[in-house]
Formats: sequence, C-alpha cells, structure tokens
Amino acid sequence: MTQETTQPEVNIGLVGHVDHGKTTLVEALSGSWTDQHSEEMKRGISIRLGYADTTFRTCPGVDEPDCYTVDEECPDGEASEPLRTVSFVDAPGHETLMATMLAGASLMDGAVLVVSATEDVPQAQTEEHLMALDIIGIDNIVIAQNKLDLVDRERAMENYEQIQAFVEGTVAEDAPIVPISAQQETNLDVLIGAIEETIPTPARSDDDNAAMFVARSFDINRPGTTWEDLAGGVVGGSLVSGELTPDDEIELRPGREVEEGGQTEWQPLTTTIRSLQAGDGAPDSVGPGGLIGVGTGLDPSLTKGDSLGGQVAGEPGTLPPTRNGFEMDVELLDRVVGENDEVETISTGEPLMLTVGTATTVGAVTSARDGECEVNLKRPVCARDGATIAINRRVGARWRLIGIGTLRA
Ligand code: GTP
Repeated sequence: MTQETTQPEVNIGLVGHVDHGKTTLVEALSGSWTDQHSEEMKRGISIRLGYADTTFRTCPGVDEPDCYTVDEECPDGEASEPLRTVSFVDAPGHETLMATMLAGASLMDGAVLVVSATEDVPQAQTEEHLMALDIIGIDNIVIAQNKLDLVDRERAMENYEQIQAFVEGTVAEDAPIVPISAQQETNLDVLIGAIEETIPTPARSDDDNAAMFVARSFDINRPGTTWEDLAGGVVGGSLVSGELTPDDEIELRPGREVEEGGQTEWQPLTTTIRSLQAGDGAPDSVGPGGLIGVGTGLDPSLTKGDSLGGQVAGEPGTLPPTRNGFEMDVELLDRVVGENDEVETISTGEPLMLTVGTATTVGAVTSARDGECEVNLKRPVCARDGATIAINRRVGARWRLIGIGTLRA
C-alpha cells in the first residue's frame, strides 16, 4: 500500500442531540488540514458523507495529555509525530434523520457522544443515539461534555452529574466524560487522549473477501460534461473486510431493479474499479478503516443521488445473498426511546423500518411470535446470516427505535 500512513485506520462516530456541537467538534479536530485536498471525488465524499479525516499527533517529550494535538507543529516549534489517522462519521442529530444515524453507526468502530452542558440530560437524541450504539454493539465510547464556555462552574458540575446518572447501567457506563469547548478549542488534547485510550483500532484481516458497506453514491460530473470526459459513477462507504485495488472487478448487491416480462427483479451490478480515494490521496489499494470512495465504470446515472446507498460491494460471487424477506430473532427494548410508553409486541401486518448494515428498508410483518418475526421487504437487502438489524416502529409521525433483530440462517 503506498498510502499506509494516511488511510484512516478507524472510524469514529460523532453522535448526540441536534446542535450539541458534533460538526463544530469535527471541524476543530480536523479543519486545519482536511481542506488541503480538493480533488473532486474527495470533496464529493466529504460533503455527502459528512465525514472528515484527521491525524492525531503527539509532541515528543511533553507529558500527557498536553502532548496530544492535530497540528504538525508543537507550541515549542518542534515537529509533532503522527500517532494514527482516524475518520470521523458525523451522524445527523435531527430526529427525522435517525435512519441515517443508524446506517452510519454500522460503519463506526467507536463513538464520541457529544452532550451540551447548556441543556438538561438526556435530550431525546442523546438517549436515542446511545441506545442505537448499544443495539449495534458499539461500546468504545467517549463522552464530550461540550459548550463549557457557555456555563458557570456550578452548572457544569450539575450537568456532569446528570451525564453520570444518565449513563449508569448503559453501554457508556465506563466511558470517560471530557469537558470541552469545541468552539473555543479548549481541552481537545484531553479528548484526543481519551479517544486514543478508549477507541482502539480493531484487529482486521486482509485475507478475507472484500466487503464494502456502501453509504452514499453519486455522480461527480459537472453539468455540461461531454461524454468523452464523463467519469463513471462513484460509491462511498467503508470496507468491513478484505482489500480493493484498481482494476478489480466488483459486484454490487442487491444491484438494480429490472423489469423482465412484466416481472420486476433485482439483479447484481458488476463493474471494474477505476480509481480509489482514501485518506488524503488515491492509494494503490485500500483496506478496512476510514471512509473510501470507489470510482467505477458504472453509468453515473446509476449512482446519482445516493441511489446505491445501502448496498454491499465485493468480489463477484462472494457476497451474502439478496433477500426479499427474512426471519429474525427479536429482542425488544423495555420502552420506546424518547417516549415513556412501553414497547408493545410486534404484530402481524404492521410495517417496520429495518436498518441492516447501511441499508434502510421497510418491511411488512408476515408473522410474529414471541421473540421472533418474519418480514417481507419493500426493497431487498444484501445481508449475511446472523446480521444485526435495528428495528423501528412508527409512533405518531415518527419512526422510533424499538428493538434489535438477528437475521436467522
Ligand atoms: P446537527 O448536525 O444539526 O445535529 O448539529 P451539531 O451537533 O453538529 O451542532 P453544530 O456543531 O452545528 O453546533 C450547533 C451550534 O452550537 C453552532 O452555532 C455552533 O457554533 C455552536 N457550538 C458548538 N460548540 C460550541 C461550543 O463549544 N461553545 C459555543 N459557545 N458554541 C458552540
């Protein structure tokens, strides 16, 4: 790999309630240098995925946590040394974007839960996002208590205690709570230290078949581009295993819907990788870690407007099956997150919104018994046996997270 030092090795989610400061924090931790690279594809991916890469660095000879920085130059003028490059996945905090958050969560190796000190804890999406992390199995969590510049000491302490009480008994019980101001860039060295300690780079195997969860897809051609200059469709997402190299043939599942003899069915798409984008460059190959862009030979009209988001890409013939429905074991939450109501059992005929990997689809329940149910999907998904499924039910005008499913073999 020519870009070993720059392909991010870990994906860190930024989650939390709307306006608590996720985007400001990503900017504070990465803004100074993610803008240096303006290749078209990279820009496209950054904007669409809401992600940014940064390299955590250390100042030699300086004690922890003061040594941690994202600047190449230390305060004493010495050059800092890189520790590792990370990719931030900025999950939207708005309640209507919960499906996007859940899809993003399937790409996260760990998460920073941003909680504003100016509001009581928990706000609705603080709770819902934490529950989502729990369900998806992300337990490497750091809590950033943000906007410390806006509150006095007493309020900061009170809010800190509220956070502690809120996380008790949850997956974030042992998560470090770091008071910061993202806007004033205060205490970010302590936050980086906590991330380094709490969110390790997962062990990965290059030997497995390549499998990429596609989160977004787009057409990078400017309006008016002539056909000679037209670039193929681009898919963005993250490899969960294996390696991709330019000129590799890949398959995308479920692919596209085609009509034949009055019947519609989904057929996998196959194409060749034309270019790769990862970290701050175009490497010769990419492995798991960080968000990557894959330039393909696909007609850009097929990738436009995220139309391939939620699909899985990999070596032809190695991907899990495309499923129009499945059976799952179900574990319901005690109560609906964000509401005080108990979760009622799933009933036959009800619609559920299901997130599997980066795919979100609506399914109608065809049969439901204690702890298990069978669904028929409106839009098929490519998913392996045993996959984790986030289950959402319509409550009033919204989809609310009600439980977790495990896809049966
Ligand atoms: P969504 O992506 O919509 O969920 O919001 P977000 O969590 O990304 O919040 P964002 O970073 O957009 O910040 C919301 C507002 O809070 C902006 O006006 C920021 O300038 C402000 N803000 C964020 N962090 C701080 C902070 O530490 N101090 C102060 N004073 N303001 C902050």
